[in-house]
Amino acid sequence: MSKLNFKNRWVVITGASSGLGKEIARYLAKYEKANLIIAARRVKKLENLKKEIEQDNNTKVEIVEVDLSKSEGVDFLFNRATKIGSIYGIINNAGLTYYGKTEKAKIDKYEQIIDLNFSAVMKLSLLFLDYFHEMGQGGLLNITSVAAFIPIPYQSVYSASKHASQSFTDALKEENRKTGIVISSFAPGGIATEMITKSGLDKKISKDSIFNMKPDKVAKKAIKAFKRGKSVSIPGFMNKLTLFFVRIFPRKWIIRISGLLYAPTEK
Ligand SMILES: NC(=O)c1ccc[n+]([C@@H]2O[C@H](COP(=O)([O-])OP(=O)(O)OC[C@H]3O[C@@H](n4cnc5c(N)ncnc54)[C@H](OP(=O)(O)O)[C@@H]3O)[C@@H](O)[C@H]2O)c1
Repeated sequence: MSKLNFKNRWVVITGASSGLGKEIARYLAKYEKANLIIAARRVKKLENLKKEIEQDNNTKVEIVEVDLSKSEGVDFLFNRATKIGSIYGIINNAGLTYYGKTEKAKIDKYEQIIDLNFSAVMKLSLLFLDYFHEMGQGGLLNITSVAAFIPIPYQSVYSASKHASQSFTDALKEENRKTGIVISSFAPGGIATEMITKSGLDKKISKDSIFNMKPDKVAKKAIKAFKRGKSVSIPGFMNKLTLFFVRIFPRKWIIRISGLLYAPTEK
């Protein structure tokens, strides 16, 4: 049963300039007839997406150029979005990883990952939750990851940030169980997006590998689960199986296997 109906309603999507966020935007416009506020830093990519979506669908698209790793960026997006229209949904999708031996990267990189993957998600969730309470309706979807359930060597800060985001979303959902506001999380495994190529993960697991799902397929699953108000949804048989093993095998084994899978080929 659907708990959300996006038709002619405004939905904010962060990280819509590429990958999963872009496909979520396309899906919401085409199949749900939602009006969209798409946010990211690369404005040209957002402009192209706006043009494409408005040409193909009878929906409105507004762009917010913003750096969400900065606290003022988060405030800017909230203020801008709530001035555009009455917001019905927010999808915290923007995310960043670093792949490699943890000590090799600068602390700045990790601060950026924590600021984007957790602090911005936490702050936007709370700002919009307050807003939804006032409006008496709304839905929040936080995109986490299978890495929210498994410590991932060579992506240690990324997986820590996703653990934090998952735990926060689960707890927030429980606190708001009886409020009528939908709070969901969606935890994909590998997706064939820029995240894989930009981080260099493709040197270990090719972007076209069967382990990486197609972003349009993942987007469809994300929105279907969000509409049903699912607490946590995991797309794909392999990812579900992985998390089944995580529940039954000792944590030490899981981390060791994860380390073997992700160990970089270049030292
Ligand atoms: N790809 C995977 O294997 C995978 C697996 C599990 C979970 N996920 C999660 O899925 C979500 C989407 O990732 P993706 O795979 O679609 O990656 P992607 O193609 O690299 O997209 C990331 C998006 O985040 C935006 N972004 C990055 N830094 C930002 C910043 N400082 N401020 C605002 N926006 C920023 C990017 O836009 P700009 O660069 O234009 O700002 C881009 O639109 C992320 O939360 C990721 O953790 C991905």
